[in-house]
Parts: sequence; structure tokens; C-alpha cells
Amino acid sequence: MVKIAPSILSANFAKLGEEILSVEQAGADLLHIDVMDGHFVPNLTIGPLIVESIKPITKLPLDVHLMIENPDQYIEHFAKSGADIISVHAEATNHLHRTIHLIKKFGVKASVAINPATPLDQLEYVLDDLDMVLIMTVNPGFGGQTFIPATLPKIRKLKDIINERGLSLDIEVDGGINDKTYQSVIGAGANVLVAGSFVFGQNDRIKAITSLKG
Ligand code: DX5
Ligand code: ZN
Repeated sequence: MVKIAPSILSANFAKLGEEILSVEQAGADLLHIDVMDGHFVPNLTIGPLIVESIKPITKLPLDVHLMIENPDQYIEHFAKSGADIISVHAEATNHLHRTIHLIKKFGVKASVAINPATPLDQLEYVLDDLDMVLIMTVNPGFGGQTFIPATLPKIRKLKDIINERGLSLDIEVDGGINDKTYQSVIGAGANVLVAGSFVFGQNDRIKAITSLKG
């Protein structure tokens, strides 16, 4: 069963509450929240205060994607603000194992994100500790970019490794997911699809989300 995680990066922030309600009512499974620090990626977005404001207005699990340097410094803040799952970038921390266990210490599900150029090897010794892996299908930083097809073999390889090891973690994909690309990522083994501009760019949110569920 494929899950859809609309990314609020492409929502209208002047009416964020209504935007969130619209995707929840349209059948979204998670709410994807993109946190950018202007260092790890060349863009600035939102912090724990916004997560805290969103938490009481939705039943959707909050899927917080940290595109920030020094993630350890902020994990407690995001956990206490209501994150249900936190993704940290493997490229942003020197001590990935420690960072993963810090997330779990606060009772939050742990996920590691990897950029398009980062190999799966980075995950080899931490895979058993994870609830999810986030495979970036664009270079992080902005919504509305074009899907990078070279990420498909990586999704397939991760799915094989998960099967070989008998694990049951989710594979999330993020970037350029729309009605032209969703089938290829699902076919490769992804089961959580982030979609920002495709979902929030359409007034008919039910149609948008349904069309990604295959
Ligand atoms: C990109 C973010 C994505 C972004 C996806 O750095 O991590 O979550 O919102 O946007 P679309 O779906 O428009 O590519
Ligand atoms: Zn994201």
C-alpha cells in the first residue's frame, strides 16, 4: 500500500491551516515538513515553532525532513514540537549512528535521507536501526524540480537489501514526484511518496492524491 506525504513547502503559507486540512481530507497519509537552514541547502524555511503550531490542527503523522547542518542540536526541539518521524541527512552528520539514536531517545521514528549522489553504502551498518530511508530524487533545496531517473537503480537496490535482510522499513522518495514519475518509483520499490508542487499546484486535492496512489 503506497502512502502519500504532501510537502507543505509548496502550500500557500498565508493559509497553511486550510491547506493542511485540504490534503488530510483528500486522503494524505503523512504531512511532509521541509526544514532548511540556508547552509546544508541554499534555502531557508521553517523551524520547530511552525511544527508546534501544526501539531494540534491535524491527525496526520508529521514527517519532518531536516535539511540542516548539526541536526543533533535541533532534534530535541523538533521531537518536543510534535514530529512523528524525523529524517536526517547522512551527509549532514559525522556520527550518523549517534544521531539516529538521539532521535529514537525522544520516542520519534528515525529515518536517514541521502542525496542523489550519495551511495547506499552509507546506510549499511545503520539500516537495522531505521524505520525509514528517504531517497532524494532531486538535489534538496527547492520544490518543483525535475525528477532524476538515475536514482531508480538505487531505490531498487535498497529494496533488494531490505528483502535480503528481512527488514520491513519504509522507502520514501522525495522530489519531482507527479503523475508521470510515480509509477517508476513504486515499481522500483518505494512505498512513501512525497509530493509538493504536484499536490498543492492543483485545486482538486482529491484528484491529485488519488492519481499518485496507482
Ligand atoms: C526538496 C524537498 C521536497 C520538496 C519536493 O528539497 O525536500 O520535499 O518539497 O517538492 P516537489 O514535489 O515539488 O519536487
Ligand atoms: Zn522533503
